[in-house]
Amino acid sequence: MFSVVLDLVSKKYINGSTDLIILDKASYNFEFGKFYSIVGRSGLGKTTLVSLIGTVEKADEGSILVSNHNLSDVSMHKLTEIRRKDIGFVFQNFSLIDRYSIIDNLEIPLYFSGIRKESHRLSIIKKCIESVGISENQLEKKVSQLSGGEKQRIAICRALLNSPSIIIADEPTGNLDEDNEQNIVKAFMDIKASRNCTIIMVTHNKSIANKADVMITLEDGKIVEVGGTI
Ligand SMILES: Nc1ncnc2c1ncn2[C@@H]1O[C@H](COP(=O)(O)OP(=O)(O)O)[C@@H](O)[C@H]1O
Ligand SMILES: [Mg+2]
Repeated sequence: MFSVVLDLVSKKYINGSTDLIILDKASYNFEFGKFYSIVGRSGLGKTTLVSLIGTVEKADEGSILVSNHNLSDVSMHKLTEIRRKDIGFVFQNFSLIDRYSIIDNLEIPLYFSGIRKESHRLSIIKKCIESVGISENQLEKKVSQLSGGEKQRIAICRALLNSPSIIIADEPTGNLDEDNEQNIVKAFMDIKASRNCTIIMVTHNKSIANKADVMITLEDGKIVEVGGTI
């Protein structure tokens, strides 16, 4: 079973008079339930690739299937729904509201996703927070009082709230020290084991990339697997 299928996908940016080719008829199948890392130098197109999968960018040509929906065939409304329900995003800069508590940061997206009953929101939050190794009695703490590693675990927790089948993380450990990097990758591995979802993570860090089930990169506009360890 596949989570994401790219079929002959092309994507370029027009830069002045020259075209910057990111993908050139690239095809690749992401299997459901696997942990993928995307590696490669800065500027290669890693963020573009995860933005295409995350429905934030549009391909010029070819088709992308996310959870069996063909992204070029669905309405804007459906696209928003796929983004909200099927995909959880984690970013390098956490994207949390610093002056709010952990619980507020987690309740707001749940409220807007339509869960109006407070006790229901709380039970979802408690389940998610546990899977990233943060204790429940920390929930009232302000995000500004947390370490970078804790912030990122809260951001991962937020990505899990809607039980997405695909988690996309773009350099989630980019702002963290080595110990916290390892904690984050451990959190992703635990999530993969316990939640049955596909994880696609961009990273510069070789020791983290190597922990994924499959390592991929972009080469001449194609998506290729990197064999062995890097
Ligand atoms: N919206 C855009 N318009 C023009 N060029 C872009 C745009 N987004 C990214 N690029 C260029 O595409 C290339 C790949 O970018 P990106 O996907 O962010 O790479 P990476 O994440 O591997 O560092 C870079 O050269 C970047 O400057
Ligand atoms: Mg990037």
